[in-house]
Amino acid sequence: MTTLPKPRQPELKTSLPGPKTAAIMARDAQHLSTSYMRPYPFVPDHGEGVWLTDVDGNTMLDFFAGIAVSTTGHAHPHVVKSVQEQMTRFAHVCLTDYPQEITTSLAERLVKHIEKPGEKWRVFFGNSGAEAVEAAVKLARNHTGRTHIISTLGSFHGRTYGAITLTGSKTKYKRGFGPLLPGVSHVPYPNPFRPPLGSTPEFCGDAVLAHVKNLFQTVLPPDEVAAFIIEPMQGEGGYIVPPMGFLKKLRGLCDQHGILLIFDEVQSGMGRTGKMFSFQQFEEYGGVQPDIVTVAKGIASGLPISAMLAKESVMTWPVGSHGSTFGGNPVAAAAAHATLDLLEGVVKHPGCGDSLMENATSVGDYILSELRAMQTEFPFLGDVRGQGLFIGLEFVKPDGSPDGKLRDAASMAMFEKGLLNLDCGEAVIRISPPLILTREDAETGLEIMRGALRSLSTQR
Ligand SMILES: Cc1ncc(COP(=O)(O)O)c(C=O)c1O
Repeated sequence: MTTLPKPRQPELKTSLPGPKTAAIMARDAQHLSTSYMRPYPFVPDHGEGVWLTDVDGNTMLDFFAGIAVSTTGHAHPHVVKSVQEQMTRFAHVCLTDYPQEITTSLAERLVKHIEKPGEKWRVFFGNSGAEAVEAAVKLARNHTGRTHIISTLGSFHGRTYGAITLTGSKTKYKRGFGPLLPGVSHVPYPNPFRPPLGSTPEFCGDAVLAHVKNLFQTVLPPDEVAAFIIEPMQGEGGYIVPPMGFLKKLRGLCDQHGILLIFDEVQSGMGRTGKMFSFQQFEEYGGVQPDIVTVAKGIASGLPISAMLAKESVMTWPVGSHGSTFGGNPVAAAAAHATLDLLEGVVKHPGCGDSLMENATSVGDYILSELRAMQTEFPFLGDVRGQGLFIGLEFVKPDGSPDGKLRDAASMAMFEKGLLNLDCGEAVIRISPPLILTREDAETGLEIMRGALRSLSTQR
């Protein structure tokens, strides 16, 4: 018998940080890499569903899921059971050399979500998003025999050398680390709220494509371009949804020049937007099929595994040319199977409809409409955008420019009231909760947000 999750409220037993949290943070500051950021004083002890409790016993509502990772929430019984079962069988036998049924069936399951009639796809497994991106770029170069890659400004593709070169969001990722990968260009991302190249929301996609065509005529021979890599919905850059029809036109331009189209779905994929991959949200606008897709983050509810999916006609690199010791680890693969069970609705989660993808759509629509309603009371909420549980909230100054300071203050105010959240872009809060978020828990989160925003309004 299934039981519905009980509606709960955050419970703050100490001021933040509590004493145990503060003590661990002090040790962390002594011993861990100086590159780690510590914006919020929270040290998790355990989690259950959409709730996380810190080492001082403070329970917070999770509205960011460890950056869109904890798809099924924390300690989901179905995921825990699958992982435990696999651990009792074997934890590692290198996939690069030995096939394993659990990864074979995972690949079969993943490609079912992408293959069109008459098309076959294959899968390479890694451990992280960056590793999937590296694999995608290596494959694209190897398959086409071309060297150049086009990426977008505002993008995030990871922190390894190839991936930081492709990343276009912040110079801090690159400063002092050069030389980076040669042969990479960046073009603007079509952001309808801040249209690039002097364009309009409606035509910003066309403006970006005109810019690319101009590059092809002036500085970048298109026959030297191996691939165009893009997030179909941009994550770290600000949770941006491009204009409808843009990706299809981009596909057309790539086809014209024999350029492979890579969709980086590391943040937006695995059901987060309500479809398995975010590019599938554009199907009713003519649809678009990429050549290569990268996924990671939400694929296994917190266990490290990533996948690079490619059309069979593209995955032509020779035997032994690429691999990974841990990639496709069977314990992580078990967690990915369990996550897919819940995403697809093979296993139901109480209170979440037929599947977690369906739940992402319905709860996401509800949050979007409530946030849009809040824009009247809070004019500094310049834009509310997204799809499913991939939602961005952009803070603006009275002149419409991004207000990063206000965003930071809002984010902290929400945290202090018991809502775990995370920034992105210049002035955006991303809302990317576990996909098991019920409408009741969404209401709780929205109420916290309202209270935090009101407290900011009165301080201004
Ligand atoms: C779109 C996208 N690609 C790649 C990455 C890199 O993933 P990882 O941090 O697992 O290497 C990220 C991480 O935020 C991402 O958002």
